[in-house]
Amino acid sequence: MRPTLYATIGPAGAGKTTWRHQHAPPGATVISLDERRSALSPCGCSADPSVNAAAVADGTADTRAVLAAGGTVVWDVTNYLPRFRAHLLDLAAEFDAATVGLVVLPPLLTVLARNGGRDGRICAVCGMARRVPDPVVWAMHAAITDALPGLHREGWHTLHFLSLPPYLHRRHHGRTP
Ligand SMILES: Nc1ncnc2c1ncn2[C@@H]1O[C@H](COP(=O)(O)OP(=O)(O)OP(=O)(O)O)[C@@H](O)[C@H]1O
Ligand SMILES: [Mg+2]
Ligand SMILES: [Zn+2]
Repeated sequence: MRPTLYATIGPAGAGKTTWRHQHAPPGATVISLDERRSALSPCGCSADPSVNAAAVADGTADTRAVLAAGGTVVWDVTNYLPRFRAHLLDLAAEFDAATVGLVVLPPLLTVLARNGGRDGRICAVCGMARRVPDPVVWAMHAAITDALPGLHREGWHTLHFLSLPPYLHRRHHGRTP
Protein backbone atom coordinates (compact mmCIF):
# COMPACT_ATOMS: atom_id res chain seq x y z
CA MET A 1 0.00 0.00 0.00
CA ARG A 2 1.25 3.49 -0.73
CA PRO A 3 2.44 5.29 2.40
CA THR A 4 0.22 8.24 3.27
CA LEU A 5 0.70 11.38 5.30
CA TYR A 6 -2.31 13.28 6.56
CA ALA A 7 -1.75 16.72 8.08
CA THR A 8 -4.22 19.05 9.69
CA ILE A 9 -4.00 22.76 8.91
CA GLY A 10 -5.86 24.91 11.42
CA PRO A 11 -5.40 27.46 14.20
CA ALA A 12 -5.25 26.59 17.89
CA GLY A 13 -8.74 25.69 19.11
CA ALA A 14 -10.11 24.99 15.62
CA GLY A 15 -11.04 21.37 16.35
CA LYS A 16 -8.15 19.43 14.80
CA THR A 17 -7.68 17.00 17.68
CA THR A 18 -11.43 16.53 17.97
CA TRP A 19 -11.56 15.69 14.27
CA ARG A 20 -8.64 13.32 14.54
CA HIS A 21 -10.16 11.42 17.46
CA GLN A 22 -13.30 10.85 15.41
CA HIS A 23 -11.94 10.37 11.91
CA ALA A 24 -8.26 9.34 11.83
CA PRO A 25 -7.93 6.32 9.54
CA PRO A 26 -7.82 3.02 11.47
CA GLY A 27 -4.26 1.89 12.04
CA ALA A 28 -2.75 5.31 11.39
CA THR A 29 0.05 6.57 13.61
CA VAL A 30 -0.92 9.94 15.09
CA ILE A 31 1.83 12.50 15.53
CA SER A 32 0.57 15.14 17.94
CA LEU A 33 3.12 17.76 18.89
CA ASP A 34 0.94 18.74 21.88
CA GLU A 35 1.08 15.19 23.20
CA ARG A 36 4.78 14.85 22.49
CA ARG A 37 5.59 18.15 24.21
CA SER A 38 3.53 17.09 27.22
CA ALA A 39 5.46 13.85 27.44
CA LEU A 40 8.85 15.54 27.09
CA SER A 41 8.19 18.65 29.19
CA PRO A 42 9.46 18.74 32.80
CA CYS A 43 6.20 20.48 33.80
CA GLY A 44 4.06 18.33 31.50
CA CYS A 45 2.70 21.27 29.53
CA SER A 46 1.62 20.66 25.95
CA ALA A 47 2.75 24.15 24.92
CA ASP A 48 6.19 24.06 26.62
CA PRO A 49 8.42 25.72 24.00
CA SER A 50 11.62 24.31 25.50
CA VAL A 51 10.79 20.84 24.17
CA ASN A 52 9.28 21.84 20.84
CA ALA A 53 12.37 21.08 18.76
CA ALA A 54 12.71 17.67 20.37
CA ALA A 55 9.01 16.94 19.77
CA VAL A 56 9.34 17.84 16.09
CA ALA A 57 12.51 15.75 15.75
CA ASP A 58 10.89 12.71 17.41
CA GLY A 59 7.72 13.09 15.36
CA THR A 60 9.79 13.37 12.20
CA ALA A 61 11.80 10.25 13.03
CA ASP A 62 8.66 8.26 13.81
CA THR A 63 7.08 9.48 10.57
CA ARG A 64 10.08 8.26 8.57
CA ALA A 65 9.80 4.83 10.18
CA VAL A 66 6.06 4.53 9.48
CA LEU A 67 6.23 5.80 5.91
CA ALA A 68 9.23 3.57 5.14
CA ALA A 69 7.09 0.60 6.19
CA GLY A 70 4.25 1.73 3.91
CA GLY A 71 2.04 2.99 6.73
CA THR A 72 -0.12 6.01 7.37
CA VAL A 73 0.63 8.95 9.66
CA VAL A 74 -1.68 11.74 10.78
CA TRP A 75 0.05 14.92 11.93
CA ASP A 76 -2.23 16.75 14.34
CA VAL A 77 -0.63 20.20 14.22
CA THR A 78 -1.54 23.76 13.33
CA ASN A 79 0.68 23.89 10.22
CA TYR A 80 -0.12 27.58 10.01
CA LEU A 81 3.21 28.59 8.47
CA PRO A 82 4.29 27.55 4.96
CA ARG A 83 7.58 26.18 6.26
CA PHE A 84 5.78 23.79 8.63
CA ARG A 85 3.74 22.46 5.73
CA ALA A 86 6.84 22.27 3.52
CA HIS A 87 8.60 20.18 6.15
CA LEU A 88 5.81 17.59 6.07
CA LEU A 89 5.54 17.62 2.28
CA ASP A 90 9.31 17.10 1.99
CA LEU A 91 9.13 14.29 4.50
CA ALA A 92 6.37 12.58 2.53
CA ALA A 93 8.28 13.04 -0.72
CA GLU A 94 11.23 11.07 0.68
CA PHE A 95 8.97 8.01 0.63
CA ASP A 96 6.79 8.92 -2.33
CA ALA A 97 3.92 9.06 0.15
CA ALA A 98 0.49 10.38 -0.75
CA THR A 99 -0.26 13.63 1.06
CA VAL A 100 -3.64 14.75 2.35
CA GLY A 101 -4.07 18.25 3.77
CA LEU A 102 -7.00 18.65 6.14
CA VAL A 103 -7.97 22.29 6.51
CA VAL A 104 -9.81 22.92 9.79
CA LEU A 105 -10.81 26.54 9.64
CA PRO A 106 -14.07 27.49 11.29
CA PRO A 107 -14.87 31.21 11.51
CA LEU A 108 -12.50 33.20 13.74
CA LEU A 109 -15.12 33.91 16.41
CA THR A 110 -15.90 30.19 16.70
CA VAL A 111 -12.22 29.39 17.15
CA LEU A 112 -11.76 32.19 19.70
CA ALA A 113 -14.76 30.93 21.66
CA ARG A 114 -13.45 27.35 21.70
CA ASN A 115 -9.99 28.48 22.73
CA GLY A 116 -11.50 30.78 25.34
CA GLY A 117 -13.14 27.80 27.01
CA ARG A 118 -9.76 26.30 27.83
CA ASP A 119 -7.74 26.59 31.00
CA GLY A 120 -6.09 30.01 31.02
CA ARG A 121 -3.87 29.43 34.06
CA ILE A 122 -0.23 30.10 33.27
CA CYS A 123 2.29 27.45 34.29
CA ALA A 124 4.91 28.82 36.69
CA VAL A 125 7.60 26.65 35.08
CA CYS A 126 7.23 27.14 31.32
CA GLY A 127 5.05 30.27 31.33
CA MET A 128 2.44 28.81 28.99
CA ALA A 129 -1.27 28.04 29.37
CA ARG A 130 -3.51 25.62 27.50
CA ARG A 131 -5.50 28.65 26.35
CA VAL A 132 -3.61 30.47 23.61
CA PRO A 133 -3.66 34.29 23.73
CA ASP A 134 -6.40 35.65 21.45
CA PRO A 135 -4.00 37.60 19.21
CA VAL A 136 -2.05 34.41 18.56
CA VAL A 137 -5.21 32.57 17.52
CA TRP A 138 -6.14 35.51 15.34
CA ALA A 139 -2.71 35.56 13.66
CA MET A 140 -2.82 31.81 12.99
CA HIS A 141 -6.33 32.12 11.57
CA ALA A 142 -5.25 35.00 9.33
CA ALA A 143 -2.13 33.18 8.13
CA ILE A 144 -4.12 30.10 7.10
CA THR A 145 -6.85 32.20 5.50
CA ASP A 146 -4.17 34.00 3.48
CA ALA A 147 -2.65 30.67 2.44
CA LEU A 148 -5.92 29.15 1.21
CA PRO A 149 -5.79 30.39 -2.39
CA GLY A 150 -2.28 28.93 -2.87
CA LEU A 151 -2.63 25.68 -0.93
CA HIS A 152 -3.35 23.68 -4.06
CA ARG A 153 0.03 24.77 -5.45
CA GLU A 154 2.01 23.61 -2.41
CA GLY A 155 2.10 19.99 -3.54
CA TRP A 156 -0.66 18.27 -1.57
CA HIS A 157 -2.13 15.37 -3.53
CA THR A 158 -5.49 15.91 -1.88
CA LEU A 159 -6.94 18.77 0.13
CA HIS A 160 -10.05 18.49 2.26
CA PHE A 161 -11.77 21.53 3.70
CA LEU A 162 -13.37 20.15 6.82
CA SER A 163 -14.92 23.19 8.40
CA LEU A 164 -14.33 26.10 6.15
CA PRO A 165 -17.13 28.61 6.52
CA PRO A 166 -19.45 28.45 3.51
CA TYR A 167 -18.56 31.93 2.29
CA LEU A 168 -14.98 30.76 1.64
CA HIS A 169 -15.95 27.86 -0.60
CA ARG A 170 -15.33 28.66 -4.23
CA ARG A 171 -18.76 27.49 -5.30
CA HIS A 172 -20.31 30.13 -3.09
CA HIS A 173 -18.43 32.96 -4.75
CA GLY A 174 -20.40 35.22 -7.00
CA ARG A 175 -24.09 35.16 -7.57
CA THR A 176 -26.03 32.01 -6.81
CA PRO A 177 -28.37 30.91 -9.55
N1 LIG B 1 -17.25 20.59 15.81
C1 LIG B 1 -17.17 21.09 17.06
N2 LIG B 1 -18.27 21.58 17.65
C2 LIG B 1 -18.20 22.08 18.89
N3 LIG B 1 -17.10 22.15 19.63
C3 LIG B 1 -15.97 21.68 19.10
C4 LIG B 1 -15.94 21.13 17.78
N4 LIG B 1 -14.67 20.76 17.50
C5 LIG B 1 -13.96 21.07 18.60
N5 LIG B 1 -14.73 21.61 19.56
C6 LIG B 1 -14.28 22.07 20.87
O1 LIG B 1 -13.34 23.11 20.66
C7 LIG B 1 -12.25 23.00 21.56
C8 LIG B 1 -10.96 22.91 20.75
O2 LIG B 1 -10.97 21.71 20.00
P1 LIG B 1 -9.61 20.92 19.71
O3 LIG B 1 -8.91 20.60 21.00
O4 LIG B 1 -9.97 19.75 18.85
O5 LIG B 1 -8.79 22.01 18.91
P2 LIG B 1 -7.37 21.90 18.21
O6 LIG B 1 -7.54 22.39 16.83
O7 LIG B 1 -6.84 20.52 18.38
O8 LIG B 1 -6.53 22.95 19.03
P3 LIG B 1 -4.94 22.93 19.34
O9 LIG B 1 -4.25 23.32 18.09
O10 LIG B 1 -4.77 24.00 20.37
O11 LIG B 1 -4.59 21.56 19.83
C9 LIG B 1 -12.52 21.77 22.41
O12 LIG B 1 -13.09 22.21 23.63
C10 LIG B 1 -13.53 20.97 21.61
O13 LIG B 1 -14.37 20.23 22.44
MG1 LIG C 1 -5.18 19.82 19.31
ZN1 LIG D 1 4.56 24.30 32.03
